[in-house]
Amino acid sequence: MIFIKNAQEIDGIRKSCKIVAEVLNLLGSMIKPGITTKMLDEIAEDYIRSKGAIPAFKGYSQAGSFNYPASICASIDNEVVHGIPDDTELKEGQLLSIDVGVQFNGYFGDAARTFAVGKISSLKKKLMNVTEESLYRGIEKAQDGNRVIDISRAIQNYVESNGFNVVRELTGHGVGKYLHEDPSIPNYVVSGPSPRLREGMTIAIEPMVNAGTYRVKTLKDGWTIVTEDGQPSAHFEHTILITNNEPEILTT
Ligand code: MF3
Ligand code: CO
Repeated sequence: MIFIKNAQEIDGIRKSCKIVAEVLNLLGSMIKPGITTKMLDEIAEDYIRSKGAIPAFKGYSQAGSFNYPASICASIDNEVVHGIPDDTELKEGQLLSIDVGVQFNGYFGDAARTFAVGKISSLKKKLMNVTEESLYRGIEKAQDGNRVIDISRAIQNYVESNGFNVVRELTGHGVGKYLHEDPSIPNYVVSGPSPRLREGMTIAIEPMVNAGTYRVKTLKDGWTIVTEDGQPSAHFEHTILITNNEPEILTT
């Protein structure tokens, strides 16, 4: 079931989303060759807890794997999402996708951004830009009265017209009272009924875009999703509020 949030719930979600955005800004300022994703994870967790909030991903359970062990997901190059922070140093030329989820006073916020580590190739730069722009194309369609499929179509059309492909296996989602709520927000057109979007819904739109095939696989760690062909991938996500007017991005 899709929850419509009241003013008090929206206020709570807004606060949580603000912390998410602050974490991403903070980490963005620290990303450079030599830093490890584990260091970034510690910085994120410290910041979140200093605000009296809780990292939403830590301990998250998923069928078939151990509980997620970190506060952020850190996915490098061919890793699409759910990369587990570790002691490997970042290297010049890598793409790093950081995903952050926060719970504050019982309300959730969720966002992700892909960053360049130093100077990156023009292909990676284009992949980053197209993925971010596809998110904004999707957000534009998050209007009261539209359907989820309008978001999906806008993202897929933009990505494919730029020669890239959207991941099918993972989707965006409702967010707010829980980290993952209905509806699911696919980044490609799925046939069948598509839920109507209404004022008061809060959703996370999160295109994952691959330079090559859309196909992905899961590593043996049970979490890390990588591209099947080894080509790079990028990921941008915002939590947004559907209003009686323009959608409001809560994670900026
Ligand atoms: N932002 C991701 C999502 O919306 C985060 C999942 S990581 C997990 O699905 F650890 F929480 F699973
Ligand atoms: Co999400």
